[in-house]
Amino acid sequence: MKCRKCGERASIELRRHNAAFCAPDFLDFFRRQVREAIRKHRMFEADEAVLVAVSGGKDSLALWDVLIDEGSRTTGLYLDLGIFDYSVESKAKCERFAAARGVPLIVSTVAEEVGAPVPVIKEVTRRPPCSGCGLSKRYLMNRVALEHGFPVVATGHNLDDEAATLFGSVMHWQTDALPRQSPALAATHPKLVRRVKPLYRLSERETAAFAFLRKIDYIVEECPFAKGATSIAHKEILNRMEEASPGAKHNFLFGFLDKARPAFERAEAVTLNECARCGQVTTGTLCAFCKLADQVKRLGGGLRPSSDGRRAP
Ligand code: AMP
Ligand code: FES
Ligand code: ZN
Repeated sequence: MKCRKCGERASIELRRHNAAFCAPDFLDFFRRQVREAIRKHRMFEADEAVLVAVSGGKDSLALWDVLIDEGSRTTGLYLDLGIFDYSVESKAKCERFAAARGVPLIVSTVAEEVGAPVPVIKEVTRRPPCSGCGLSKRYLMNRVALEHGFPVVATGHNLDDEAATLFGSVMHWQTDALPRQSPALAATHPKLVRRVKPLYRLSERETAAFAFLRKIDYIVEECPFAKGATSIAHKEILNRMEEASPGAKHNFLFGFLDKARPAFERAEAVTLNECARCGQVTTGTLCAFCKLADQVKRLGGGLRPSSDGRRAP
């Protein structure tokens, strides 16, 4: 197999592009895809400050690596979810990455903001851990960005993540979720910042290869609560389709974005209010984050978390 660009021996084959690349040309291809995503969806201008949400995993650290090399003005944001050793290790990966490259990192701790870490939130709400966790992540990313004056938050969602989310929404015909599925969400209120996903054109396998070639030290373990999640089952189904027909995931997601998404955009605009407590955006009176914090305070008083997320005896 020869590199499509230079004709030297290829080290990675990309079947959906019907191409193979040597390591340097693959890195080049990867960065070009990120630049193309940013340009096509006007994610941010060269001089804008970008808050990069980093989990310590390969995708978000690969994204941060590319943006630093592109000369973007970036700051990392790590949200400490308090999920046992998983959070301790992933935080350390982000801190080491930031220190090695001399870039700033903001750390925000869910236990301090909500009143309890994710494992306790899970017990208090009796909902799957990902629901309180996802809600807290989205809220804190936006609030931290506003507080520090960042107009945009970038996340490491890749093609596999996006295709799996779309698959889940379509399986349940969640027509509310479909218009919100986009590589770039505009700020529709002065208290909402833009949210962008510059890796949406790149598969999980490609970000893993990029992280490996760039020697990025990332956390390999998944969140312990991810086991059995439907999103993982959906990824497996899509991977089987991809195996049988390279490009299936790409066609599914890109076809939706180009042809179907506009049909689901709601005609009537929802009214956005400011939360009576915290001032962040909500469609009701009190935002979902403040309601969650209330619930944790009411029911979780006896469950005092320690700093690593384990409950104190
Ligand atoms: P996930 O929902 O875990 O697949 O993560 C999707 C993206 O959300 C990651 O690529 C990150 O950009 C961001 N993210 C996830 N977890 C965290 C975290 N603990 N702190 C900051 N950003 C995160
Ligand atoms: Fe949120 Fe696992 S990362 S529950
Ligand atoms: Zn609120």
